[in-house]
Amino acid sequence: MDPTGVITIIGLAWRGLICENLLSAIQADILKNVARNVTQKSLRKFPDDFLFGAATSSYQIEGAWNDGGKGWSMWDHLVRTDPDHIIDGTNGDVAANSYYFYEKDIAILKELGANVYRFSVSWPRILPFGRADYINPEGIAYYNTLIDRLLANNITPFLTIYHWELPQNLNEQGGWLTEDIVDWFGDYARVLFQNFGDRVKHWLTINEPSVHCNLGYAIGLHAPRIKSPGVKYYECGRHILLAHARAYHIYKNEFAHQGGKIGLALDSEMSMPSSNSPEDIQATEDCMMFHLGQFAHPIYSETGNYPQRFIDLIAEASARQGLPESRLRSFSQEQIDYIRGTGDFLSINHYSSNYVYRNASVVNMHEVPSLLDDAQLAFYKDPSWPSSFWIATYGPGLHKLLVYIKNNYNNPIIYITENGFASTTGLNDEGRVSYFREYLTAVLDAIDDGVNVKLYCAWSLMDNFEWTFGYSIRFGLYEIDENDPEKTRRPRKSALVFKEIVRTRTIDMDYNPDPYASSAINKKTSIVLLAAISLIKTVF
Ligand SMILES: *[C@@H]1O[C@H](CO)[C@@H](O)[C@H](O)[C@H]1NC(C)=O
Repeated sequence: MDPTGVITIIGLAWRGLICENLLSAIQADILKNVARNVTQKSLRKFPDDFLFGAATSSYQIEGAWNDGGKGWSMWDHLVRTDPDHIIDGTNGDVAANSYYFYEKDIAILKELGANVYRFSVSWPRILPFGRADYINPEGIAYYNTLIDRLLANNITPFLTIYHWELPQNLNEQGGWLTEDIVDWFGDYARVLFQNFGDRVKHWLTINEPSVHCNLGYAIGLHAPRIKSPGVKYYECGRHILLAHARAYHIYKNEFAHQGGKIGLALDSEMSMPSSNSPEDIQATEDCMMFHLGQFAHPIYSETGNYPQRFIDLIAEASARQGLPESRLRSFSQEQIDYIRGTGDFLSINHYSSNYVYRNASVVNMHEVPSLLDDAQLAFYKDPSWPSSFWIATYGPGLHKLLVYIKNNYNNPIIYITENGFASTTGLNDEGRVSYFREYLTAVLDAIDDGVNVKLYCAWSLMDNFEWTFGYSIRFGLYEIDENDPEKTRRPRKSALVFKEIVRTRTIDMDYNPDPYASSAINKKTSIVLLAAISLIKTVF
């Protein structure tokens, strides 16, 4: 605002025009709020202890890929050695530049009224070579500042120890395919507990074991691009479970005095039978075992170990293929006991649901050997579900999943650590608005059913590097133009709606903010108020 503009506004105010306008605007606002409060009385409220937050991950937002003493991760390696593998040829070198712009992230978290920020630590930023024999002081300093700034703003940090950024050095030594990673990961986790555990009380060891092993070691889409859907996929999962358990035991044995809670971030879609046939119903149960159960059952069930159906189906398929033993390596009783019970809460990332079936058509449908062939099933999404890219909106699926977890894993404390919708650029993200409303309604339904769900984190706080999709797919409550050097975070309609849900703790289906108008109006209103105040000061 230039000085002449301010003078003009003061001049207008002098003539009483703005005061009148302000008054009628305020009156209209009061009337609207009264009307809204009346309808909201009948709405369900989120309980007082329910937390709202937003999530990100280090490689997707930090940038500074080669600054501050950071080493290479396997993603830095992938985007340099095979840039064409990323759809739009981009990478995470700068991303949202949160390494330098973390204050912008804190500002938008505050604007949303978020109680929680779920972020991840970059392993090679802390340990540039992967091993704990050299700790990068600049990496420690960065996360210390971030954590301090969050706490100073009343935002609780939920820290993910590993969100797919394996140091390339360790990847070259076998990565998730060698049991050595259990030691490497445990040593890395200990460094984080030592440095941040006085302030961080919520720890997530590993993000989405199922997705990470599937994309990285089964279909070979993500780093380290290994294609082995029937063998290495299971090895990856096995080592992730053991590494998670190692970090858990280190925390409980050496850092119990810090009084924090620790779990891992599981992912699951909800499976529903395609028909009432016993085959489809069995296939649906099996589908849950092959996705959620593979990682949840060893930790959260009474007995521990993989689900029996998971063990049996892989053994049967291996026998059909003439193998002398199952492609799924079994855990020793000692390992089963080591993993069982290593979760203080159950954290779940959820996006969509599937209809599942099993009939003659699935027998030769999938690659042999593979997870899906082992499971002997197939699934599809209802075409009527509003969808964008791979996300199909079906809110009741989250309700069913939460009830499923309550019933199958002894009613644990549940944190929803990711849930969100894909879009392209633009601030009017109606699809995401409907998605959040539907899924948050499902959370209220689950709370009514006695599910112990305590946190909802939207994915994602802002647009970021969406792995092989680069910036072609957006998940942000806030939009970022990746070509803008300032990486300005602009609230989408979904951010304004989410903020109102957090503020009122209810879901107002009629709230209809205009993301293009709101920022301009706020600016105008504050200029008018400033002018009015200075006018009053001058006159009186
Ligand atoms: C198997 O079930 C699917 C889903 O219900 C159906 O589309 C397909 O036609 C069925 N195939 C056979 C061979 O029964």
